[in-house]
Amino acid sequence: MFIVVGVTGGIAAYKSVQLVRLLVQRGHDVHVIPTQDSLRFIGLTTWEAASRNPVTTSVHDDVARVRHVALGQSADLVIVAPATANTLAAMAAGLASDLLGTTLLATTAPVAVAPAMHTEMWRHPATTANVATLRERGVLIVGPADGPLTGGDSGPGRMSEPEDIVAAALELASPAPADLDGLHVVVSTGGTREPLDPVRFLGNRSSGRQGAEIAAEAARRGATVTLVAASVDAGVLDTVTAHPRVTTRHVETAAQLGEAMTDAAASADVVIMVAAVADYRAARVSEHKLRKEDGPLATIDLVPNEDILAGLAASRRDGQMIVGFAAETADEDLLARARRKRERKGVDLLVVNEVGWDAGFGAGENTVAVIGDGEAVVAEASGPKSTVARAVWDAIVAARAAD
Ligand code: CTP
Repeated sequence: MFIVVGVTGGIAAYKSVQLVRLLVQRGHDVHVIPTQDSLRFIGLTTWEAASRNPVTTSVHDDVARVRHVALGQSADLVIVAPATANTLAAMAAGLASDLLGTTLLATTAPVAVAPAMHTEMWRHPATTANVATLRERGVLIVGPADGPLTGGDSGPGRMSEPEDIVAAALELASPAPADLDGLHVVVSTGGTREPLDPVRFLGNRSSGRQGAEIAAEAARRGATVTLVAASVDAGVLDTVTAHPRVTTRHVETAAQLGEAMTDAAASADVVIMVAAVADYRAARVSEHKLRKEDGPLATIDLVPNEDILAGLAASRRDGQMIVGFAAETADEDLLARARRKRERKGVDLLVVNEVGWDAGFGAGENTVAVIGDGEAVVAEASGPKSTVARAVWDAIVAARAAD
């Protein structure tokens, strides 16, 4: 998408650097229009580096190509972040006093605005009226959030987080299909922890990010989602758990995960096991912290955990679709091993992704292949985990339609 990002003169402009980077990472062609005032906070060079496009601020630049309207005409989406009280007033009045103003008047693309200002300014009747005018015209107002403001105050006025602005703006430009409307979807995510004693556990590097994106995409497409979350990285669940159609259950061990999944699967249309489940647990869990003086700790006796996914697949109700994930380290046998795993587990679809020291777990991006009936690779996707989540759901919807 051709996306114009207007940056106006607030300290939150520094957060918009991340916003621009997120859009570029998702493969969008991003054009930043900073106002003169905003350049006191973040300079042109930063915007050019972050957006990978030339940046101008003046209506008098590039006049031959009528730049003052060209950007607005080309845009598929316009985001203004941060939007100051002054910008909201200018937008409501339709002022064309700078390149951002002319662009906003010349565009027919959806516009998302992320206000940032002090609480008093946000609550002023003039701002309230301007925001109401913009909403009436179809402008999406994202935030502001409640929290600490510059100068030590706190209250509504803080610019929303870049991830949230990006998600809301992209949704505005290309709304998700409602193809999961009315379905109940159960997703597991994160990595299980198997205790050894009150302070130690056996765990893995799963961040929970891919599962969170799968759950969020399902909710976006209309599903009611039960998200069973084992251990995840900080902040990973913040956005998804705020969705009104998502219910989250927190678990720690494989046994707890299995119980929560079996319980939720009883009414599910689709079950997806994204969680990295420990294959083994300690045969004995010590009640007290294990100490060297109690004897050698070098050997831990393990007993196998149940295969939750295979169990869910074996007891699936009519019409229920079961999807597994397989994290495999790369080698030439990767797909063959994944095909055998799909057979063994008895699942409809197996999403295989490559993991290693620097790929898959914890990373923002992922590369997957989806293996379906007859061992066919029914989908492939690469990119941010949100893009991968969309491709996985497209494959599930297609497989359900083909059934
Ligand atoms: N899984 C599960 N229960 C287990 C182990 C794995 O439900 N005890 C699920 C995972 O959530 C995932 C799929 O099975 O959806 C594949 O996980 P993976 O660890 O790749 O499979 P394993 O059976 O453990 O195979 P491997 O021997 O390759 O580790």
